[in-house]
Amino acid sequence: MSTDLYTFPITKTSESKIKYFDWDHLDFGKNFSDHMFLMEYDNGSWGQGEIVPFANLSMHPAMSAIHYGQAIFEGLKANRTVNNEVVLFRPDMNARRFNKSAERMCMPTIPEDLFVEAIRQLVALDNEWVTFREGHSLYIRPFMYATDELVGIRPSRTYKFLIITTPVGQYYSEPVNVKIEKSYTRAALGGVGGAKAAGNYAASMYPALQAQNEGYHQLIWTDAAEHKYIEESGTMNIVFQIGNKLITPDENQDTILRGITKRSVFEIAEKWNVEVEERMVTVAEIIEAARNGSLKDAFGAGTAATIAPIAMIGYEDEKFMLPPVEERLLSNKIKKYLGDLKSGRIADEFGWNLYV
Ligand code: PLP
Ligand code: COI
Repeated sequence: MSTDLYTFPITKTSESKIKYFDWDHLDFGKNFSDHMFLMEYDNGSWGQGEIVPFANLSMHPAMSAIHYGQAIFEGLKANRTVNNEVVLFRPDMNARRFNKSAERMCMPTIPEDLFVEAIRQLVALDNEWVTFREGHSLYIRPFMYATDELVGIRPSRTYKFLIITTPVGQYYSEPVNVKIEKSYTRAALGGVGGAKAAGNYAASMYPALQAQNEGYHQLIWTDAAEHKYIEESGTMNIVFQIGNKLITPDENQDTILRGITKRSVFEIAEKWNVEVEERMVTVAEIIEAARNGSLKDAFGAGTAATIAPIAMIGYEDEKFMLPPVEERLLSNKIKKYLGDLKSGRIADEFGWNLYV
């Protein structure tokens, strides 16, 4: 990719907010860096993208995204390495997934190199917001929404694409308790579960809240037809270790998000000759493994969540405790490897870091 293929005009903020920023009290996603990327779609093509001071947007009350939900997003992180460089983790994967979401939601796609280059230039400008602190990153949120001013239902003809960034620490500060959901569903065959569409998250909130009221952090979704197969969690993909084997639900039915963290975990595991399986995973086999002690580990994998150990799985009226986190040698090793790779402490043998 030629990095000078795209040059975006930059309007700088008159005063950086970074000096007022409290790095010791980071609430996930509540604070934003100084600038954002903005590009508009009209008359069948994208206009000139630009980097502007972070600011509110105005909107028409009939703007179609807020009525009919044509809105998609992505999430990735920038990290500062031990050599004081800033790197993005696999942004090409986000570009590809964003376009897959766009197609499913009848929205225009964005050239992948433009998507990546816009992120790169924005993060380069706001690079002071990428901290050295262990476990901290600059979370990057590209998103697109429909802007036609119309109460009628049809795909919008105008869109806004933005990228905003927010310094973050851990999404989950402790091992999570998850409940296998048997009544509600996140995604059905033929639906939009494979897209990172805003409405998927809206639809998940009510069931997730019920689970939170029962003391869980999150749900494990199951298939819509029978609640027999494991799908994913609300904010991350799910990986199990039974014996020495890593197992995760496959993505072939497009009911789960094709997670980049999970893909990376599996690519690392394969390189290390760990036995891996991506296939349909039944609730019954996980519960059986939890009962007979062969379920050595279960963890979530996601950009925000990173590798999030699962402490307890609730199913029907039972609660299954998993082994202590310090005994989970494989996922701990993978988590450390990923952290070391992103912070430049080890060689990037997969070529996953894009230098800003
Ligand atoms: N599944 C859902 C529903 C998510 O929101 C996320 C987070 O992005 C993931 C899985 C994990 O995907 P990734 O590893 O690409 O962040
Ligand atoms: C991400 O991990 O990027 C997500 O989109 C999940 C969200 C809970 C922040």
